[in-house]
Amino acid sequence: MPDVDIAIARAEERPILANMMQFYVHDFSEHWAGQETGELETDGRFFDYPLDPYWRDPGHVPLLFRIGGHLAGFALINDHSHSDRPLERNMAEFFVVRKHRRGGVGTAAVHGVFSLYPGLWEAAVARRNVSALAFWRAAVRSHPQVSEIEEDDFTTDHWNGPILRFRIGPS
Ligand SMILES: CC(C)(COP(=O)(O)OP(=O)(O)OC[C@H]1O[C@@H](n2cnc3c(N)ncnc32)[C@H](O)[C@@H]1OP(=O)(O)O)[C@@H](O)C(=O)NCCC(=O)NCCS
Repeated sequence: MPDVDIAIARAEERPILANMMQFYVHDFSEHWAGQETGELETDGRFFDYPLDPYWRDPGHVPLLFRIGGHLAGFALINDHSHSDRPLERNMAEFFVVRKHRRGGVGTAAVHGVFSLYPGLWEAAVARRNVSALAFWRAAVRSHPQVSEIEEDDFTTDHWNGPILRFRIGPS
């Protein structure tokens, strides 16, 4: 497993997340082909992701991943349920920089995050993000303390795509 350092992003580190979010949105824009959303602004940047709640609201956690001191990705955790079912934690966003992909960094990072934040989790995967679904299925199933794994497909006003629900820690 790669050695991934996981740290809560301090308020003064918000610009780091805002910068990396540009890369994340660029990756996601691939899935928005044919839709209005996801165009570049006139300044050549994507829209600013709403990060304020991550240093303001309970249940919101911004995390930065580093490998050997270098930024390698991030996770945003909140308590929003895409399934409208009760939960404790939602993986709102999760990102590994391209240089470090397919080497187990995402798995190591998310296993670390799950262990730091046990409870009843949800991960909603956009229908077109097929590679992320493969990642989540593998990463969730391989966590040593996972139980109660469920996967359902949603086509509602709230979500279009699969949602994984699972518990980390004692059931
Ligand atoms: C999804 C993402 C986090 C995966 O990170 P990663 O560090 O490459 O993941 P890992 O190396 O730990 O991959 C573990 C397993 O997940 C699956 N997987 C990961 N990326 C995949 C891809 N592009 N296609 C198919 N399967 C993939 C594979 O089973 C992989 O195991 P393998 O490499 O032995 O085949 C990364 O590609 C990313 O940041 N993507 C853009 C943002 C995004 O889609 N985030 C998820 C939002 S729901």
